Amino acid sequence: MKAAIIDQFGGPEVFKIKEIEKPKVKPDQLLVKVKTVGINPIDWKQRKGNHKFVLGSPFPIVLGYDVCGEVVEVGNKISKFNVGDDVFGVLNNKYGGAMAEFAVGNEFCFAIKPKEISKEEAAAFPMVSLTALQALRDKVGLKNNQTVVFNGASGGVGHVAIQIAKLIGAKVITVASKSSKKFMSQFNPDEFIDYTEQNVLNTNIKADVFFDVIGNLTFPKVKHLLKSGGTYLNLNYIHSITKLPVNILHQIFSKGKKAKTILMKHDSSDLDMISKWIQEKKIKICLDKVFNLDQVHKAHQYAEQGHNKGKNVIVISE
Ligand SMILES: NC(=O)c1ccc[n+]([C@@H]2O[C@H](COP(=O)([O-])OP(=O)(O)OC[C@H]3O[C@@H](n4cnc5c(N)ncnc54)[C@H](OP(=O)(O)O)[C@@H]3O)[C@@H](O)[C@H]2O)c1
Repeated sequence: MKAAIIDQFGGPEVFKIKEIEKPKVKPDQLLVKVKTVGINPIDWKQRKGNHKFVLGSPFPIVLGYDVCGEVVEVGNKISKFNVGDDVFGVLNNKYGGAMAEFAVGNEFCFAIKPKEISKEEAAAFPMVSLTALQALRDKVGLKNNQTVVFNGASGGVGHVAIQIAKLIGAKVITVASKSSKKFMSQFNPDEFIDYTEQNVLNTNIKADVFFDVIGNLTFPKVKHLLKSGGTYLNLNYIHSITKLPVNILHQIFSKGKKAKTILMKHDSSDLDMISKWIQEKKIKICLDKVFNLDQVHKAHQYAEQGHNKGKNVIVISE
């Protein structure tokens, strides 16, 4: 099968389009004919080798976690899906494996693709919406009328998280650049802060939750913006783990204010909930750029600049 592989870590130029062996399906896996792949920052971080000390270097590596496609084979332990189903989800292999004509994943990675959205939108949804949902519901327990600040509001996770926060009935303050203001306005934020003009740390905001989506701040820097008992959530998991001792010290003197992080969990029932919201038109995904497999270098180059409005997607097949 045709795949975008890397056989060394490095810049976007390390991608090669090659013929490799089709993955074999295990009893608890589905084999999917890939239609579209969503790009997430984890993909270009892994291409650079940022996670090689944990995940190793099993070259040739096929990157990409977010996928939409058609089930073409099911293992004998699969009960929820059938051949011919259109599915979307987040793959659970070490490095993903979506940027190829075929990919495998366990049943809990997938849900049936809602008919209301395109294959491009379906590949853009899974990782960012699972992260946003699990962060706001499970990690911070966001409630109606609470105030939440989103730093990095206009990217993949941010623009979906805002919509979920609005569904919950929270007051939403978004931080992004001037270039994202128009894009943000479709989600009716209660306040927009242009970080090129104003430093959010110098405002008199008092929030229940400060969601540092882009992860370039820290609990000690942000805690004065939190109400007593408020939560600072940083999405940069590895950075947050290294800050744990400092954050624990700061929490002791911070009136119940907490610093947290999150790692997205594979959960098909959460994906089903997201699918229901999509069908009810309660949330939508915005696509910035759509590429084809031969443009994978360009796609990573663009995504890595970190100024996309919404999501970038690669089309593998029709
Ligand atoms: N822990 C987990 O399980 C998990 C899951 C998913 C993602 N993540 C991590 O979460 C982070 C965000 O992911 P994403 O998919 O939302 O990324 P993304 O789509 O690449 O985010 C791009 C957005 O970041 C904004 N941005 C860039 N610099 C900024 C700054 N200095 N201040 C505020 N906003 C800024 C940009 O807005 P402007 O163009 O307006 O500058 C752009 O809209 C990544 O580091 C990713 O690895 C973690």
